[in-house]
Amino acid sequence: MTDPAATTPAVLAEGLVKRYGGVAVVDGIDLTVRRGECFGLLGPNGAGKTTTLRMLLGLTPPDGGRLTVLGEPVPLRAREVRARVGVVPQADNLDPDFTVRENLITYASYFGLSKREVGPRIDALLEFAALDQRSAARVPTLSGGMKRRLTLVRALINDPELVVLDEPSTGLDPQARQHIWQRLRQLRADGRTLILTTHYMDEAERLCDRLAIMDRGRVVACDTPEALVAAAAAGLRYLQRPANLEDVFLQLTGHDLRE
Ligand SMILES: Nc1ncnc2c1ncn2[C@@H]1O[C@H](COP(=O)(O)OP(=O)(O)OP(=O)(O)O)[C@@H](O)[C@H]1O
Ligand SMILES: [Mg+2]
Repeated sequence: MTDPAATTPAVLAEGLVKRYGGVAVVDGIDLTVRRGECFGLLGPNGAGKTTTLRMLLGLTPPDGGRLTVLGEPVPLRAREVRARVGVVPQADNLDPDFTVRENLITYASYFGLSKREVGPRIDALLEFAALDQRSAARVPTLSGGMKRRLTLVRALINDPELVVLDEPSTGLDPQARQHIWQRLRQLRADGRTLILTTHYMDEAERLCDRLAIMDRGRVVACDTPEALVAAAAAGLRYLQRPANLEDVFLQLTGHDLRE
């Protein structure tokens, strides 16, 4: 039988608002993320991307609007939703006192998974992250790329339907980024829904089925990468070369420095 919940979108946000000190940093956004797609959230620094993701996860309470994640109302049922979601936060928050494997065991315990039942899954995840040779290494001895890969597989410990990744590849070398991209494609091929933020336009173009571009708390465009570029092409003809996503991004969000 088809699970009726599987026919609802992964995320449905209507008029979502978050204010800090009277300023709407997320200013009434509508978003629909379909099941099984890789959805990218782009925007300049301070656009409201992390705040939006935190609201989806029930970590930041919205000040307005309606939000449903995996068919459940958030924040009302955020706890139940979080059990079905994997999270890669913008800043690594691995436990520096633990080894690679201990970090995964500890994280698994938050989902009620015992060390014994999670052992084989951890082996598979360490291989997936190409960290199987480093399972006994302490976190401070890992490179930035290794830490990011560990954070990624930590997010998979509960076999999540939806994975939310806030800048998964920031600060990584091209090899490490390619590795992460390949893994994200694999997750999508497994049928998981991915929502990611990135400042790398090539990453957004290559990985994402659809993108929302945010600016000053609002969604200023939402479509496939190809359609966004095609829609902006006429206004970018002065470039005298084919427009790319970065041109579109700058056209929509302006050239001024933020923050
Ligand atoms: N807890 C908070 N208290 C006050 N202001 C906040 C808080 N969290 C975020 N903000 C403000 O909300 C705005 C949006 O921040 P957010 O972190 O969502 O941006 P972002 O799009 O993720 O940016 P970046 O690309 O730099 O990560 C910023 O102006 C930020 O200073
Ligand atoms: Mg952010």
